[in-house]
Amino acid sequence: MIQGHIESRLQAAAAAVLPDADVSRVLVRVCADAKHGDFQSNALMALAKQRQMNPRQLATDVVAQLDVAEWCEPVDIAGPGFLNFRLRADAVNAALQTALASESPFITIAATPRTVVVDFSSPNVAKPMHVGHIRSTILGDSLARVLRLLGHRVVTDNHIGDWGTQFGMLLLGWKTQLNEAALEADPIAELERIYKLINADEALRDDARAELVKLQNGDEENLSIWQRMIELSQVQFDHVYSRLAIEFDETLGESFYNPKLAGVVEDLVSQKIAEESKGAMAVFFPDDAQLADKPAIVQKSDGAANYTTTDLATLQHRLAEWAPDEIVYVTDGRQQLHFQQLFKIFRRWQPEVTARLEHVWFGSILGPDGKPFKTRSGEVVRLADLLDEAQERAFTVVSEKNADLDETQRREIARVVGLGALKYADLSNNRQTDYIFDWDKMLALQGNTAPYLQYAYTRVRSIFRKVDAPDFNNVTIAATAPEELALAKHLMNFGQTLEMVADDHRPNFLCNYLFELAGHFSRFYEACPVLKANNESERESRIALCELTGRVLKTGLDALGIEVTEVM
Ligand code: ARG
Repeated sequence: MIQGHIESRLQAAAAAVLPDADVSRVLVRVCADAKHGDFQSNALMALAKQRQMNPRQLATDVVAQLDVAEWCEPVDIAGPGFLNFRLRADAVNAALQTALASESPFITIAATPRTVVVDFSSPNVAKPMHVGHIRSTILGDSLARVLRLLGHRVVTDNHIGDWGTQFGMLLLGWKTQLNEAALEADPIAELERIYKLINADEALRDDARAELVKLQNGDEENLSIWQRMIELSQVQFDHVYSRLAIEFDETLGESFYNPKLAGVVEDLVSQKIAEESKGAMAVFFPDDAQLADKPAIVQKSDGAANYTTTDLATLQHRLAEWAPDEIVYVTDGRQQLHFQQLFKIFRRWQPEVTARLEHVWFGSILGPDGKPFKTRSGEVVRLADLLDEAQERAFTVVSEKNADLDETQRREIARVVGLGALKYADLSNNRQTDYIFDWDKMLALQGNTAPYLQYAYTRVRSIFRKVDAPDFNNVTIAATAPEELALAKHLMNFGQTLEMVADDHRPNFLCNYLFELAGHFSRFYEACPVLKANNESERESRIALCELTGRVLKTGLDALGIEVTEVM
């Protein structure tokens, strides 16, 4: 990609002027404001500062050594020493020409693919998936898609909560309170009901605990009921996942790691990482100001392991099984302390491991009142109901716009639009901020929404219903109008945007990119007649621009887990 070429040339020029400098941080970025150019670099100013040199002089010396004439107009030195690069139209056209013939336009497939484990969604057995799981599910899926698109090897793992004290209550409830018919009709609701019944009654604590101990000791009846509860839950999870088109390579629940937990604790104790504290085994972090008064328990005083122990065993398993370069955990921000502790313990335990560990956390979804999003009657919103409502509301919008389509068609478009809107509302926000759930805003056909982008895609596609697509192998792209060049240059930034999403684990960068792409396309389409172009070669060149825009929109939305439709 041109940006990368310019960057290497700039680094070479900087090294020629300052032979002892570390030029690896001399980076070239997309210009935020196209008025100044297409790319820019402010890295020379930092280099000059370190050496107490005059930054403008350094910039002038580096530019004298810099050869980027095959892609750029003469380089501009601005202010105290910014470099601004403006692409030449012929270089832009050549890049588009290459993209037109490429399987993955504007994307540089990783030369050395990384292996990344993405741990996401991870709901708990016997509980309904609720609105809180939506962010993990949608964010995690999008990150996995983006990484795959860039050529990395991805292992998605659904770390289901299928073990823990709640099973004592569930087992007791199953044996004493179960309504078979209700279980048949809505298994999760029934499991939730029996759990709440037992949990509410203090007097049943000991009985519940006894059931848990039996389960832990391998009692056959309890094991088979437990297994049943997992299966019933998995059916519900799978139903939601299939509606959202989400797939996992692995679903290794917490219980999978049970046989390894004692070994983990033994290891930590023998390496003096964990120590006895009030009957429990704990890890202390005296060297960390934030964690100094927050030890992590790895074995409770009753001898049971916990969430942290399980996650340590999970880490060990993943490293042994897939040798990942990175493991990404997508959960609620409330688990920040857990992951800080986990990563610290792990680094002490296995200092030789270099894999990157990232807690990709997110904020809450709020209702219109600014409080956590609930149903009207104050209950948690079930994910399945949310998906139904999204499709139903989209159906109204779609029906208003397309009264002439038959109902089956409108239902299918509503499915794509409704689910897309829901996913996009989540992905387009900075994941670390809370956001207010707003149906009207997410379903709007204007603004930074999925329906707007899906509509932009249908506009591109409608061109191809009016004209036979030329043989793109024989089309010469010759963008000249400012709107054509602006669109073309934006298209060229697609791969870089995906890389930023992968590095920072932030799909909202891709949302913004696509939103801007739709804007560029509109301005191009208004200013540059396609079907009524001045001549055949201009027409074909513009059709090719439409084709590339359509492909990038579709690929980009797909990387967000969002489908497109030909009409809407
Ligand atoms: N089941 C957990 C929850 O619902 C999330 C698990 C996240 N993954 C992990 N490896 N801890 O909060």
